[in-house]
Amino acid sequence: MCGIVGYIGCKEAVKVLLDGIKRLEYRGYDSSGMAFIQNGILHCEKAVGKIAELEKRLNGNNFHTSLGIVHTRWATHGAPTTENAHPHVDCNNEIAVVHNGIIENYDYLKSKLEQEGHIFKSETDTEVLAHLIEKYFHGDLETAVMEALREVEGTYGIAVISQKNPRKIVAARKGSPLMIGIGNQEYFITSDVSASLEHTRDVVYLDDNEIAILTPDRYETKTIQNIRTHKKVEEILWNLDMIEKGGYEHFMLKEIHEQPQSLRNVMRGRVESNNDSVRLGGLIHCEQDLRQARRIIIVACGTSWHAGLVGEYMLEEFARIPVEVEYASEFRYRNPVIEKDTIVIAISQSGETADTLAAIREARQKGAKILSICNVVGSTIAREADGGIYLHIGPEIGVASTKAFTAQIAVLYLFTSYMRSLRCPSSPLDSNMIKDIQSIPEKIQTILNMEEHIIELAKLYKDSEHTLYLGRGYNYPVALEGALKLKEISYIHAEGYPAAEMKHGPIALINKDMPVVFIATRDNVYGKILNNIEEVKSRKGKVIAIATEGDDQIAEKVNHVLYIPKTTDVLTPLLSVIPLQLLAYHMAVMRGCDVDKPRNLAKSVTVE
Ligand code: G6P
Repeated sequence: MCGIVGYIGCKEAVKVLLDGIKRLEYRGYDSSGMAFIQNGILHCEKAVGKIAELEKRLNGNNFHTSLGIVHTRWATHGAPTTENAHPHVDCNNEIAVVHNGIIENYDYLKSKLEQEGHIFKSETDTEVLAHLIEKYFHGDLETAVMEALREVEGTYGIAVISQKNPRKIVAARKGSPLMIGIGNQEYFITSDVSASLEHTRDVVYLDDNEIAILTPDRYETKTIQNIRTHKKVEEILWNLDMIEKGGYEHFMLKEIHEQPQSLRNVMRGRVESNNDSVRLGGLIHCEQDLRQARRIIIVACGTSWHAGLVGEYMLEEFARIPVEVEYASEFRYRNPVIEKDTIVIAISQSGETADTLAAIREARQKGAKILSICNVVGSTIAREADGGIYLHIGPEIGVASTKAFTAQIAVLYLFTSYMRSLRCPSSPLDSNMIKDIQSIPEKIQTILNMEEHIIELAKLYKDSEHTLYLGRGYNYPVALEGALKLKEISYIHAEGYPAAEMKHGPIALINKDMPVVFIATRDNVYGKILNNIEEVKSRKGKVIAIATEGDDQIAEKVNHVLYIPKTTDVLTPLLSVIPLQLLAYHMAVMRGCDVDKPRNLAKSVTVE
């Protein structure tokens, strides 16, 4: 969601902060602001819109400083205006705060502070923090922050500076990620490692209820109860190239094209050379629980939830274990039954999605073993799980998830193979299962090579108002994902459905203006899907089919066909989603949309 960067060191802080926050712009982008101390005075500049607007304001002035904080906002409380943009300051313009998360008791705190004479300038929950810190400030910023936070309910990642302690940044975390970047005579506080990666790969992750105090020559961490904590310095394995566009027009396009390589990375070191077993190092300590497990519940949101649905089909078919897939946000509030021997698997690219995190905490309380499938190493969900599998695909920056979706499916496939060998020793893993997935990267490449054809199709349908996506079996989650991709980046209304369900409602929408994308590969439900195609054609709907290479029969029945290489049914989603990602991307670009930063969306949703 929002992004935070703080810097203290010998470089020109305004520039370092601007460069850092630009790397986080993908996380939230309706307004931004920076506070810094120059010649003992706190300055604060804010702007509505993209970070370029803030940059224009700052560049017009000759600012020099070695310490500051900056924020990019994704509005929760209050519209995206200059007043509501962070940083927020106290009554005397001496203390500035940037904040990710939500202060749940802000109404109560605000009216109390107002009665005490504090004057509020914004509609945000964050502003109460500035005034609370002001209230408790008696010469030392970190003590004031600790006291203020003891009154606060909700979630936060914050960074605070004050002109009364001009050589210090105080940061604190509860439920919203924050890390210290340790450079050469310089320190960063960031909500995402990519903001400081240009300067350092050494980071310290803050835990909940922990504060950090950064001064020019050292950093210190404590609990908010003022007890010193001793943290491990971790090395980030991502490099700068991974967070740059590398010649592509958008991150999303780069990430779509990275998929052959990212899937190779998912498999690297995990498949034994004789192809008959899968090694998943992150599950070593959970083997006994997995052997005994009676049920798996997958919790996730958005695209990760779609990957979870594919996982359900795979695990039930090949590992013969009951699986349910739940929206994390529903799971956490409905008092679910968790029996003994239930494994809960959280799927989250970022590892920070608030609802998914809350769902695993709920599940743990009820006694479940928790596993995670995350991409971001060191993320909160990955750290809180008992075991897990990382995607290892480098950062995903485009807000619309692409390479994470295919990597999550590939990981679920490896996990399925692993579970099968653990639980069904009498029907050992078919070595073809491994060979099949090893051939997928090359097959994805052949689909990427037909991008021109997809561009032609995008031209024909870019002005549609609605689109329906239909699939069955393993391709039903792909239909959901195809529709999500289109709606989130092109703003065309799109729905995904299991194809047979069309008759129970969506068929009423079919007319000559309704494009319907069928994922109609040669699988065990192919015959059924041909019937569904006829039903749409007879109502004059326009049909685009994703079909298997060599299927000549389908071309006569539909308006357009995009062919994908043949693979097994279970692996089809890894191929059938690729043309849908490209179609959504090109339609959105043709409509003039900002595909990497679609309106109102955020890459990582760290609020409920
Ligand atoms: C947001 C993103 C989606 C993502 C979802 C879940 O909505 O825009 O692309 O699928 O969050 O995120 P996660 O990091 O938990 O996979």
